[in-house]
Amino acid sequence: MPTLDQLETPVLTADLDAVERNIAGMQSYCDEHGLVLRPHIKTHKLPEVARMQVDAGARGLTCQKLGEAEVMADAGFDDILISFPLVGEAKAERLAALARRVDMGVVGDSAAAATALAEVLARHGLEADFLVECDTGFARTGVQSPEAAAELAALVGRLEGLRFAGLMTYPTLPESGPWLRAAREAIERAGLTVECVSGGGTPTARRTHELGEVTELRVGTYVYGDRSCIANGSVPLDDCALRVVATVVSRPTRERAIIDAGSKTLTSDPAAGATGFGLIVEHPEAEVYNLNEEHGYVDVSACERPPEIGEHVTIVPNHACVTANMHDDVRMHRGGEIVATLRTAARGKVT
Ligand SMILES: Cc1ncc(COP(=O)(O)O)c(C=O)c1O
Repeated sequence: MPTLDQLETPVLTADLDAVERNIAGMQSYCDEHGLVLRPHIKTHKLPEVARMQVDAGARGLTCQKLGEAEVMADAGFDDILISFPLVGEAKAERLAALARRVDMGVVGDSAAAATALAEVLARHGLEADFLVECDTGFARTGVQSPEAAAELAALVGRLEGLRFAGLMTYPTLPESGPWLRAAREAIERAGLTVECVSGGGTPTARRTHELGEVTELRVGTYVYGDRSCIANGSVPLDDCALRVVATVVSRPTRERAIIDAGSKTLTSDPAAGATGFGLIVEHPEAEVYNLNEEHGYVDVSACERPPEIGEHVTIVPNHACVTANMHDDVRMHRGGEIVATLRTAARGKVT
């Protein structure tokens, strides 16, 4: 078996022991607090890791896009929530094709989208669960008030093709609790049952139980961790499984090293609470201060022994989900020994 330092770079790697720890840790948190865990596969895009999550006790999967859901359904997963609004006839038809073979759930925040999906599903004699998406403070998608949530729930309750199943929000914030409670109570007063209240986001995941209202947790990044997770305290460095191994290819000056990992390898996503484009584990005092497509610029002026040409460096990316999506495959290792190469099956599935 090759070891990490024998790999040609740049290369995406994941520490399987850390992945297993992260899966077990989040599952036991959910079990302890009676929460359903529905991991978001947008982070890893790997059926093999999704299988580990379900085998550990996850109820089903969350996907952001239909293309991801199609990959996961093909891999044998039969309970999938799509947590991104589905709009347009083509998407409704693809949802119907999925709903014909697996249990599907969708989210939405408008009567227009719900009605259009319901029409297509009903025409095919199919049904999908529908969660009303609630904007509980993030100001992205979602209905804007508990009353609007109740109104959309009532409409969905009358539609053939959709089954009103509950509420959904992202991210789960401290203020989400009272918001969701007001929505649930308004919906229940109208005679509907709120089976599921789905919350999400790794940074606040382990405080979900404090809200009292959330019954299901959708988390993605927890499985790999990243530099943002280190900064917000949700995943410590040792559990950050996903790392890019890169090589120093040039040392034009005492202060500057150039590595073979640029924006096409690391992505240019920032990490809240940290500067630069990734954490170099062997040289935490160095800073990846700029990226071109294939070049990473590293300020090594603070390093006592800066890396020389040909040396490998290990980088914790700022944002695991987008970094994983840049790579055809990921080398899984245990203690530096490669144990599997997994194809990123749902890579690039953005439709
Ligand atoms: C709708 C939705 N649910 C869940 C998640 C999972 O969040 P995280 O990766 O922080 O766990 C995301 C992340 O973007 C999301 O957009």
